[in-house]
Amino acid sequence: ITRFVIKHLPIAEVEKIISWFFGKCNTSTTKDTASPVQMMQKAKSVGAIKPPAAKPTFGGGCSPRMCACFCTDRPTHMEKGGKKMVEVSTSILTMEKGKEAETLLALEKSKTDYFHIDVMDGNFVEKDTYHDMVEYSAYIRRISNLPMDVHLMVKDIETAIEVFSAVEPNIITFHLEACENKEEVMKYITLIKEKGSRVGIAIKPETPIEKVYEYLPYIHMCLIMTVEPGKGGQTLITDMIAKIDELKTYAEKNSLEIDIEADGGINLKTAERVKNAGANILVAGTAILKAADYKVIIDELKQE
Ligand code: DX5
Ligand code: ZN
Repeated sequence: ITRFVIKHLPIAEVEKIISWFFGKCNTSTTKDTASPVQMMQKAKSVGAIKPPAAKPTFGGGCSPRMCACFCTDRPTHMEKGGKKMVEVSTSILTMEKGKEAETLLALEKSKTDYFHIDVMDGNFVEKDTYHDMVEYSAYIRRISNLPMDVHLMVKDIETAIEVFSAVEPNIITFHLEACENKEEVMKYITLIKEKGSRVGIAIKPETPIEKVYEYLPYIHMCLIMTVEPGKGGQTLITDMIAKIDELKTYAEKNSLEIDIEADGGINLKTAERVKNAGANILVAGTAILKAADYKVIIDELKQE
């Protein structure tokens, strides 16, 4: 039959017979023309695909450090050539009395990257700036959108976190030396994150840099005091430059993404060495507040 069919029938007729014949044998009724996506959706709808495994939880985030950023490690710094651009945090500690409002507005106009709020309790350090800093930070919150960088030089860290989180600072930094043990440090780290700020740990000049290493995966910034905490206008302690370099090297070696803030005695003479050592946030009070034009000095301090 096949010879007759193929020999005598036009090709179109032959093709019809062949596909009729194979159609009989073909058990599948309809060829699935759905796209892979539609097939996936169909499979899910019939429960054929298990939902993705739940993310490992760490206080709601997916990793200790990510958690601090509420699981969206948003870029917090401008980068240039893969390197973080240097930022300036102006300390308002030595603002001229009676001229605070105009000073703050001038700093806002000069585009300081942060207002550095030095909170001192007269206990951890001799000076007491608590009341002033509550007032100034509340005022800044009203007049400016620029971020606040709160530096707590206090013994009662928990109360200070509660008080200053009210002005929604970008970052709250507390001193390692004001903590009794690791549990206390971790408690404050978690509390600051819960308040929606980034976390910094500060160390005094006499505290070895190694003391902060174990906390680096959980925090955003390490503040290295380049003067004794407690007042403005001091001279930078040059030994601290090596400490900045050590921290930078350790962070790079351990692929830890951490901001390094140098605080105290920073001016046009000392900024270069501090930046070269690895600090990417410079705190300056006197050098800026004494300048005729805040913007000029802020821009010069940031010069790469
Ligand atoms: C000192 C403060 C510093 C200080 C910086 O305890 O933490 O922030 O105010 O001021 P200058 O730049 O004047 O050293
Ligand atoms: Zn400070």
